[in-house]
Amino acid sequence: MKPRVVSGMRPTGKLHLGHLVGALDNWAPLQDSYDCFYFVADWHALTSDYADTSRIVESAYDMVADWIAAGLDPGKSTLFIQSLVPEHAELFLLLSMTIPIPWLERVPTYKEQMEQIADKDLSTLGFLGYPLLQTADIIIYNAHAVPVGEDQVPHLELSREIVRRFHNFYGQLFVEPQPLLTTFPRLPGLDNRKMSKSYGNTIDLADDAETVVRKVRQMYTDPKRIRADVPGTVEGNPVFMYHDAFNPDAAEVEDLKTRYRAGKVGDVEVKTKLAKALNARLEPMRARRAELMRRPDALKEILMEGSRKARGIAQETMERVRDAVKLNYLSKVDAIGKR
Ligand code: TRP
Repeated sequence: MKPRVVSGMRPTGKLHLGHLVGALDNWAPLQDSYDCFYFVADWHALTSDYADTSRIVESAYDMVADWIAAGLDPGKSTLFIQSLVPEHAELFLLLSMTIPIPWLERVPTYKEQMEQIADKDLSTLGFLGYPLLQTADIIIYNAHAVPVGEDQVPHLELSREIVRRFHNFYGQLFVEPQPLLTTFPRLPGLDNRKMSKSYGNTIDLADDAETVVRKVRQMYTDPKRIRADVPGTVEGNPVFMYHDAFNPDAAEVEDLKTRYRAGKVGDVEVKTKLAKALNARLEPMRARRAELMRRPDALKEILMEGSRKARGIAQETMERVRDAVKLNYLSKVDAIGKR
C-alpha cells in the first residue's frame, strides 16, 4: 500500500503560472509513489466569498480541466469535490466541539487577513474555522502527508495538535499528517507585484500563444535600463525569474543574463525567447484542456466517480469516529433491549 497524500485548492477558475509552479508541478510527480487525493475545496471558497457563490461550480470545472491538462491523471489520482463528501462537514463539527477558539485565533494568517481584506466581513465562524475544516479534509482520509510550501507548515502543525486533542478524549483514530515540503520558484506577477488574478497580472494556463507573447512584451523588467546598451540587473528581474522557471535551455538563459548585465542585448530578444519557452511548455496543456472542454460530461464523470470513491473512505472513517464518540445508535440498540 502506498502512503496517502491529500491536497486541495479553492476553485478560483482558470489557473495561472503561479498555480503551476506552486502546486501542480509538485502534485503531479507524487502520483507514482503516493495514493493521491486531490480535491476542489469549494466550502473553503465560501469562507471568504460567501456573498457571491454564483461562479464556484463553473470555476471548479475550469480548475479541474487545468489540473488534468497539467498532468494530474484521474487514472492514478482521486479527483473530487469537497462538498460532495459531506462527511468532511460532520467531522469538522465534531472537531469543533473540542477545539478551543483561541487555538484558531492564534493562526498568524487569521488576524492578518481579517485586517487586510476590508471589503468583506470575515468575522464569521466559517472563516475562523478554516483550519479546522482543512484538518477534517486531511484526516478523514488518514493521509500521511500533505504537499505544502514552507508557509503552510504552521497550519499542519495545528492540524496535528487538533488530532492529538481529539485523541485525548476519544482515543486513537487518525494519522497525524506530516508536511511534504515542496520547493518552488517564487514568481512575481507581470508587473512585479504579487501574482494574483485580482491584479490582472497573471499568465493563465489557458492563454493562447498570442496572448502569452503580448503579456510577456508588457512585462516589468529593470526600470533603469532605458536602452539596450545600458547594463541591467538580472537578480529579482521578473523576466529572468520566469526564464529560470520555464526556459529549459540553460545555456541560452546564461547567455542572455551575461549579455543583459553587459548591456549587450535588447529587451525584445530576452522577451521573445521567454515567450517561446513559455509557449512550448503551455502548448501541450492547451491542447489537453481544449480536448477536455469539448466533452465536459467526461469531466463531470471524473469528478463524480472520484467523489464517490472518496466518500466511501470518508464514510468508513466516520463510522469509526461515531463509535469512538459513542454516538453509535445501531450497535447500542441490542444492549438497551437486554437492560
Ligand atoms: N487552504 C488551501 C488553499 O488555500 C485549500 C485546502 C483546503 C487544503 N483543505 C486542504 C490544502 C487540505 C491541503 C489540504 O488553497
